[in-house]
Amino acid sequence: MAVPDMPALLQPIAVRGVGFRNRIVISPMQQYAGTPDGRPTEWHHQHLERYALAGAGLVIVEALAVCPAARLTWSDIGAWEDGQTAPLARLAEAITAHGSVAGAQLNHAGRKGSVQRPWHGFEPMGADDVRLRGEHPWETMSASAIPANPGWPTPRAATRDDIARSLEQFAAAARRVREAGFRVLNIHGAHGYLIHAFLSPLANTREDAYGGSLENRMRYALEVADAVRSEWPGDRPLFYRLSCVDDAEGGWSLDDTVALARAFARRGVDVVDCSSGGLQRRTTTAVVPRVDGYQVPYAERVRRDAGLATMAVGLIRDPRHADAIVAEGRADFVAIGREALFNPHWPMQAAVALRGPEAFDAWPPAYGWWLKMRSRTLAVSKAAAE
Ligand SMILES: Cc1cc2nc3c(=O)[nH]c(=O)nc-3n(C[C@H](O)[C@H](O)[C@H](O)COP(=O)(O)O)c2cc1C
Repeated sequence: MAVPDMPALLQPIAVRGVGFRNRIVISPMQQYAGTPDGRPTEWHHQHLERYALAGAGLVIVEALAVCPAARLTWSDIGAWEDGQTAPLARLAEAITAHGSVAGAQLNHAGRKGSVQRPWHGFEPMGADDVRLRGEHPWETMSASAIPANPGWPTPRAATRDDIARSLEQFAAAARRVREAGFRVLNIHGAHGYLIHAFLSPLANTREDAYGGSLENRMRYALEVADAVRSEWPGDRPLFYRLSCVDDAEGGWSLDDTVALARAFARRGVDVVDCSSGGLQRRTTTAVVPRVDGYQVPYAERVRRDAGLATMAVGLIRDPRHADAIVAEGRADFVAIGREALFNPHWPMQAAVALRGPEAFDAWPPAYGWWLKMRSRTLAVSKAAAE
C-alpha cells in the first residue's frame, strides 16, 4: 500500500510474503574476512548491521559459496555444511532486529575461483600463497575448459555428474539459508562465475544439452533456479543476479537476458538483479562507459519486456537519482554498493535528502533526536544570517 507523499525510493513494497520498508538495498559485497572453514566473523556483523541500523530495506549478505571449490578465496564464507547455519543465523537475526529484511546470496565461483584476496593481487593462487599464507590453490570448474583470463589455470569442463552435484549443492545451501532465517535469496548468475559461464557463448563451447543454442546455454541457470526453489519457501522472494550484457564482442546480450528473465517468470524467480560484465578482465574494447547508473537501462528493459520486478545497481550514488529510478518505473529496488562502503548511513541520509528533517524521526532515536534539533538550529542560524 503506497504511503501518501512519500518519495518512491522510500515507499514500502511487498514481494510474496515479505514486506520491505523501502526500496533501498545494500548490494552483496564480499569482505574476504571469513574463517578458513567459511564462517562469518565479527567483521561481518560490524559491516552489515550498520546498514540495517541505517534503514536499508534489504541487506544482502555477500556471496556464500555452495561448496569449498565454489569460493573465490580462502577467506570466503559459505553455506556448504550444516555447521555454517548457526553463525549465518546470528547474522540474519542481527540484520532483522534493526528492521531490514535479511538476504543471502549463493554462488559458485567456477573458473574465477582459487584466487588471492583482492589486496594480495586477486590473481590465481600459486607457490607464494602456499609459502606466505599456507593457502593452497584448488582445481576450478567451468562450463568449458577455457580460462577466465590469459595465463590463468584452465578449469575442468563440468561433467554431467558435476552439474548434478552442483545443483544438489545449490539446493542444500538454500535449505541452510532458509533454516538460518534469511527471507530473501539471491542467486549469483553474474560476473563471470559458474552460472554466467554457462550462459555466455564466450565461455561456453559445450556441444551437449548445456551448450550451443540460447535455450541450451540457459539450461543450467534455470536448473539452479529450480533446485533453489525446491528448498526456498513459497512465501519468500527469490532474486537472480545477472550480467545483463557481457560488455564484450560476441557475448551474452540484453535480448538474451530478456529471454532468460521470461523463463525465470515461470520458475518462481521474482526479481532480476541487473548487473553486467565480469566474464573476463575488462579490456580496452569494453563498450559500456562506467557512468552513474550505467546499468539502469538493463533493469528498465527487463522490467518492461519480461514483466518481472527488477533491481538496479551500479554507480547509483545520489538519492535523487535513486528515487527517480523507482519513480520512473525503471526498477523496483535500487542496490547501493561502494557508496555504502564510503558512507554507511546512506539510506538514512537519502531519506533526509528526499524528505527533509522530518525523516530524522525514522532514525534510531539516539541519533535522530539530536540531528533533528541540529538541523533546526542550523536553519535558524541560516535564516538569521540572511
Ligand atoms: C568489495 C566488493 C565486493 C563485492 N562482492 C560481491 C558479491 O559478493 N556478490 C555480488 O553479486 N557482487 C559483489 N560486488 C558487486 C556489488 O554488489 C555491486 O554490484 C557493484 O559494486 C556495483 O555497484 P556500486 O557501483 O554501487 O558499487 C562487490 C563489489 C565490491 C565493491
